[in-house]
Amino acid sequence: MFALRSIAGPVRAPACAGSRHRCVVVRAEGINPSIRKSEEKVVDMVKVADLPTPKAVYCRCWRSAKFPYCDGAHVKHNKATGDNVGPLVIDSTPAAAPQ
Ligand code: FES
Repeated sequence: MFALRSIAGPVRAPACAGSRHRCVVVRAEGINPSIRKSEEKVVDMVKVADLPTPKAVYCRCWRSAKFPYCDGAHVKHNKATGDNVGPLVIDSTPAAAPQ
C-alpha cells in the first residue's frame, strides 16, 4: 500500500519536458516504516471468536510497537505530520435487540 503525494512547482520532471500543458508528477512512498519489513506483504487475520477482548483495537498508522494492535502511536504521528489516522476498532459485543 502506498501513499501518493503530488509535487507541483518549479521542478520539471523529464516526463514534463517540452509539454505545453500543466504537468503534475505523482510519487509513491511506502507507509510502513519498520513493521515486519522482511515479509513480502504484512497480513494479519483474527477470527472474531478469538479476539483478545470484546473490543479489539487495531493499528492503521503502521507506527505501533504492538502491531497489529494500536498502542496510541498514531497520536504522535498525527501531531508530527498533520495526518488524521486512527485505529480500527472491532466490537464483538452482541448488538442490542430491537425494541
Ligand atoms: S498506533 Fe497506529 S492506529 Fe493507533
